[in-house]
Amino acid sequence: MEQTQAKRIVLGITGGIAAYKAAELARLLIKQGIEVQVAMTEAACHFITPVTLQALSGKPVLSSQWDDAENGMAHINLSRAADAVVIAPASADFIAKLANGLADDLLSTLCLARNCPLLVAPAMNRQMWEHPATQRNIAQLKADGVTVLGPDSGMQACGEDGMGRMLEAAQLAHAIIASLQPKFLAGTKILLTAGPTYEAIDAVRGITNRSSGKMGYAVAQAALELGAEVTLVSGPTTLSNPQGAAMVSVTSAAEMFEAVKQHVAACDIFIGVAAVADYRVAQTSAHKIKKSGANLTLELVPNADILAYVAALPHPPFCVGFAAESENLKEHAEQKRRAKKLPLLAANLAQQAIGSNDNELVLFDDAGEHLLPRSDKLTQARALLHHIVKLKGKQS
Ligand code: C5P
Repeated sequence: MEQTQAKRIVLGITGGIAAYKAAELARLLIKQGIEVQVAMTEAACHFITPVTLQALSGKPVLSSQWDDAENGMAHINLSRAADAVVIAPASADFIAKLANGLADDLLSTLCLARNCPLLVAPAMNRQMWEHPATQRNIAQLKADGVTVLGPDSGMQACGEDGMGRMLEAAQLAHAIIASLQPKFLAGTKILLTAGPTYEAIDAVRGITNRSSGKMGYAVAQAALELGAEVTLVSGPTTLSNPQGAAMVSVTSAAEMFEAVKQHVAACDIFIGVAAVADYRVAQTSAHKIKKSGANLTLELVPNADILAYVAALPHPPFCVGFAAESENLKEHAEQKRRAKKLPLLAANLAQQAIGSNDNELVLFDDAGEHLLPRSDKLTQARALLHHIVKLKGKQS
């Protein structure tokens, strides 16, 4: 399944210790099906050799504006062929050049000549980062519409500790791929549930499940990347909020139900990823139940099925369910999809999915089943969102 429409980037490498991370970044992007053309400044070639990048990208690395064998227009040709230019690492010097529109080598010239988005990943010593000149230049880049990725804070190659470390290659790859996503869902409102619920037994004990929330948060992230407005109703998790999502934090299934009822009227798509507890304790105790030698019996009463409620509304949004099964995936998933009257249901084997970073999903819709092969949850979520876009397109 198509993950990204835009597939060609120019990876510009400038002079800095973090240049070694650019090799890993090139590898990760290529692994995601993106064509990478590397361009290096002369200083970058002192930190990492073009041979390494050539071997990884499968293309000659360009560094001089004077050795263009074609038409002497490498700076134009390169940027026209690209969906984005990414500078990683971006040195303080190169950032200063970009901010001022200087163009005295191939990379700075192609940045100035480009007609596609520019993303920069600064990497430098903390004093250089904090210097007012650098901060001015960064502010200028942002004002010019350049996306600044990082930097991060931590141990630096010079031995100092602070802001200025380049983001890790995997973080950069995620951010770059996100920026390349076509904004298919601009103007679409998506309501999502994610995570487990916690059903109190008494003041300190409760019933919950092993859902980490990772899949739901990944779906939220993927939807945001496509330009959707996302409201994420989340049970208790330890994850950081997807940037840009409107968060509604809940604890119990009843609270999750209330939050969904409050927000559902405004949404175009509802995706129930949460592992909602099917039962809650009939009589919760305000105080900790004291231990005694005798058996303790808890009466459990069923919770409302949030997804079924939403799907049965008179004018329901496009509803997507998740199903974690422990056996007979296909049978149970299809049965669930029909019972809840869902146009789309994503199913997985609970033992493989819960808490893990990887997942294998099978999508069930009116046309049959579609396997999304095992990969990380964000990649799965992107594929799911692309499928939803396709189905919605067919509907309208
Ligand atoms: O029936 P089952 O719990 O397996 O269905 C799973 C799907 O239904 C998930 O999308 C889940 O978020 C949703 N669900 C719900 N409310 C419940 C139980 C499940 O929204 N009480």
